[in-house]
Amino acid sequence: MQINHHSLKLQAGYLFPEIARRVDAFTTAQPDADVIRLGIGDVTEPLPPAIVAAMHDALDEMSRRETFRGYGPEQGYAFLREKIAEHDYQARGCAVDADEIFVSDGSKCDTGNFLDVLGAGNRIAVLDPVYPVYVDTNVMAGHTGEADTEGRYEGLVYLPATADNDFAPALPSEPVDLIYLCYPNNPTGAVAGHAALKAWVEYARAHDALILFDAAYEAYITDPDVPHSIYEIEGATEVAVELRSFSKNAGFTGTRCAHTVVPRGVTAPGPGGSDRVPLHQLWTRRHTTKFNGVSYIVQRGAEAAYSDEGRAQIRSLVDFYMENASIISRTLTELGISVYGGTNAPYIWLRTPDGEDSWSFFDRLLKQAHVVGTPGSGFGAAGEGYFRISAFNSRENVGEAMRRIRESV
Ligand code: MLT
Repeated sequence: MQINHHSLKLQAGYLFPEIARRVDAFTTAQPDADVIRLGIGDVTEPLPPAIVAAMHDALDEMSRRETFRGYGPEQGYAFLREKIAEHDYQARGCAVDADEIFVSDGSKCDTGNFLDVLGAGNRIAVLDPVYPVYVDTNVMAGHTGEADTEGRYEGLVYLPATADNDFAPALPSEPVDLIYLCYPNNPTGAVAGHAALKAWVEYARAHDALILFDAAYEAYITDPDVPHSIYEIEGATEVAVELRSFSKNAGFTGTRCAHTVVPRGVTAPGPGGSDRVPLHQLWTRRHTTKFNGVSYIVQRGAEAAYSDEGRAQIRSLVDFYMENASIISRTLTELGISVYGGTNAPYIWLRTPDGEDSWSFFDRLLKQAHVVGTPGSGFGAAGEGYFRISAFNSRENVGEAMRRIRESV
């Protein structure tokens, strides 16, 4: 028996369990501490009523012989795929059809799963800091060498995104085959405008590269000029796969529903330079082999996110978290801290005061204010000296966390 030895290259535990471990150790030592968690971007507010009602109805259907359903289509029910195509893409002028949409149980899962249809020799570019899943799944798949002392893996092309370049990294100076982009960005909260995305799409077309575009935070875009989908850029349906989620807009982090768009026009060279192969064909085969679909009840709930009522309720949920974000940004700015993000994303990215390193700021905030955030260095070497605060929490907790931070920072 052999194990996947590539997994042993992973530097530490996955970031969020590592934070949970430190918080557990702290609360074990201080059981009376009332810890406020603004670390992992997990929603706190209940599912919108229109979604709950649709799920109740679907459960009733499942309870009657005449309307019971067993296995559904692995790619998702047509009723949901059609709504997604119409509202998320066609309404914005994007040429995406329902049969190019694959309903999934999460964007995180599918960013990792997608490696199943890609080869081992690709040169891969990621932003730094980066959502750790893009890097760790490539490490596990054996696409990298070992990590250096700063945690950068050999073989990956890191594109630093810091205050010095306005969190907008330059295009890779060496050719790459696979590019991970996340906009609105986790963790920095930065967005990419039309020109920036156009440059990426042109790069991908010129280098025959694929863009994996994670748009999990799309609902948080408030700036009317910022594209919501990479398919708003001409030519993107030939070079980009987009991932979206119901987690952060409709509160589905525990309910699980997302989707991945694989346009039929995205192709890659076949073996030995043979005819080009559509990734849609490979992904259909992979998805239908390894996945049995999201439950009918949950897909009916997701469908209700597109009703007039559902859309209005989701809007107020997003507005609620964004008001939290502006409270956090305002407080930290008043404290003289440099603050980024938080206007088109539910994350506030800040410079640690006096150049303190990210994990020591994490420990200090936990001990002094009993507030949990996410150390920037956990997202990559270029995140050192930064810290992320999530706007996902109740108003009361956000207010209390800010009061404590005022007293301790
Ligand atoms: C985060 O905090 O970065 C997110 O919760 C991660 C995720 O959505 O998986």
